[in-house]
Amino acid sequence: MATHAPTDALRVRELTPADVPLLKAYWMNLTASDIDRLSLDPAKIPSRLAQIERYLQATGTPYRTRTSDLLIWELNGAAIGMSSLRNIRFGEYGEIHLHVVEPACRRRGYGHRFFVKSLEEYFRRFELNLIVCEPSSRNPGPNRLLQKLGFTVTRTYRTIPSDVNREHDVNHYEITAALVKAAADAIVS
Ligand SMILES: CC(C)(COP(=O)(O)OP(=O)(O)OC[C@H]1O[C@@H](n2cnc3c(N)ncnc32)[C@H](O)[C@@H]1OP(=O)(O)O)[C@@H](O)C(=O)NCCC(=O)NCCS
Repeated sequence: MATHAPTDALRVRELTPADVPLLKAYWMNLTASDIDRLSLDPAKIPSRLAQIERYLQATGTPYRTRTSDLLIWELNGAAIGMSSLRNIRFGEYGEIHLHVVEPACRRRGYGHRFFVKSLEEYFRRFELNLIVCEPSSRNPGPNRLLQKLGFTVTRTYRTIPSDVNREHDVNHYEITAALVKAAADAIVS
């Protein structure tokens, strides 16, 4: 797998039934080190599988009615990752998550580009004022990605940031549409 090239086609799009096996395999095949790095509670991971079906059922429904959403990251026609937005309050707020599910595609310059595209789409769909991202303070990948895009840690605190996590220290990032525009403008295509 090569690194990002200007000829690559990057698209964020709605989930389809064809994506479901890839996403389920991602959650079912996490290694012990993945589980540790993501601060997951292994007993709670199966809830993600049922949730993928709920995301699928929600496709095509009005954005105003969605309290969570998922976007597939498609590279040159192949799904390689995803972003979800949870606890959405339309017109106000959402909490974003990010995963390059194909390990061979990590650290090749794709994640930060797809993440910005997801942020742009979520701000558009849900007319938000603020998106929050709270990766584990011990997980270098998302923290480095967020900081590369110019986003800053406003506080570090101990919490259970989503239904599949155990309690751990998270870095809290607050992302506005203006910050996303600046990040998008700074990305070299
Ligand atoms: C975190 C993740 C989404 C980043 O996507 P990616 O495609 O690897 O990121 P990019 O290639 O765009 O890299 C963005 C920056 O982060 C850095 N980075 C990415 N992964 C890193 C890691 N594991 N350790 C240190 N730096 C890392 C890159 O080096 C780059 O910084 P640089 O340009 O200054 O060198 C991806 O690695 C991933 O899905 N990891 C496993 C799941 C996970 O941790 N998800 C986050 C849950 S909160």
